[in-house]
Amino acid sequence: MIITRLIVKNWRNFQQIDVPLTERQFIVGANASGKSNLLDIFRFLRDIVKAEGGGLQNALSVRGGVSNIRCLSAMPASEVAIEMHLSANSEAPATWQYGIGFHKESEGARRACLTYERVWENGNLLVDRPEAADKTHPERLTRSVLEGGNRDFSELVDFVGAITDFHLVSPNAISGAAVQDNPFAAGFLEQVASADEKTRCSRLKTIEHVLKGAIPQFEKLAFIRDTLTGHPHLQARYSHWHPKAGWQREDQFSNGVLRLIALLWFLLESDSVLLLEEPELSLNPELVSQLAPLFFRMQASKNQQVLVSTQSDVLLAEPGIDGTEVLMLTPTKAGTEVKLASDIDDVHILLKTGFTAGEVVFSGYSEQLSLLE
Ligand SMILES: Nc1ncnc2c1ncn2[C@@H]1O[C@H](COP(=O)(O)OP(=O)(O)OP(=O)(O)O)[C@@H](O)[C@H]1O
Ligand SMILES: [Mg+2]
Repeated sequence: MIITRLIVKNWRNFQQIDVPLTERQFIVGANASGKSNLLDIFRFLRDIVKAEGGGLQNALSVRGGVSNIRCLSAMPASEVAIEMHLSANSEAPATWQYGIGFHKESEGARRACLTYERVWENGNLLVDRPEAADKTHPERLTRSVLEGGNRDFSELVDFVGAITDFHLVSPNAISGAAVQDNPFAAGFLEQVASADEKTRCSRLKTIEHVLKGAIPQFEKLAFIRDTLTGHPHLQARYSHWHPKAGWQREDQFSNGVLRLIALLWFLLESDSVLLLEEPELSLNPELVSQLAPLFFRMQASKNQQVLVSTQSDVLLAEPGIDGTEVLMLTPTKAGTEVKLASDIDDVHILLKTGFTAGEVVFSGYSEQLSLLE
């Protein structure tokens, strides 16, 4: 299943979004145009349903509450709303539709409350809140029907709960040296360790195969546990080393290799939506240029979805990237506008003429258009 449509009102710097989404979706825009805010919509939904520390109130409070989330240019007291459609693939009709709206009460306890919540399965409206019980017990409106491990809509809840985030601010974050202070680092190695052995071996084989093709003289990747401490480690060998040189542990890996290993692991592991924030960081352009085809192959083999924010023209240099696969974020006085590249006439013309998405969406398009005249 993938998310095939996203409709949003008053979320952060967006007053209004209504866009179709496809299996591989790139999100491009200038700094502060809202790329991270857009991806955070999906994390927010995941945070509502997650079993531990989840729920609407927690998802709101880790983001500073409704007033922090609500678009500053929205009308006072207006709601924030998110709706998404889930389908088997980008061509199929929606199997699930989920909509949630919330605001802060204008008087009384000033709680963060639902303004509505709806769930449809195959077009049938299963939940339509506020319902009678919400009216008699208004505190119910502080909770979503998806939270607390609700099994009434298990397919929807499991899908949203499995939305995965790949966000490495610092490339050092997964190196062994940083493990002690860095929960993500420890988390990543533990994640590798906790996969069952067969799955782990098969994923590491695939990753080793990609690294051999991408990193000069890279030869082997292996997982071990320290015999003394029991801590999990990744280790690598390069063919140019002395035959007795032994293995190198992850704290000696280069930043790019570490990021690539983690990125590939997440791609192989995800069976829902994978959110990738600027995966180009720390990778050389040759590798960056291979990411878009890699996403395509991975999602095609598993029917998973990748939503990728990027500032890299090289990442979008693949000629196969269609205008429907690129969301362009354009800041305006009334908040950031979100449009498919294929819906912007000038961009559409240039893509049809053979320019790559990378050439068109980053440099402004007037220069290329003038070449066509
Ligand atoms: N409630 C809100 N209303 C309006 N704007 C907001 C709100 N919350 C955050 N913003 C704005 O969103 C912008 C940041 O967006 P975001 O971090 O998503 O951008 P980005 O495209 O990821 O940038 P970068 O490329 O630098 O990572 C900031 O300019 C911030 O002021
Ligand atoms: Mg960002």
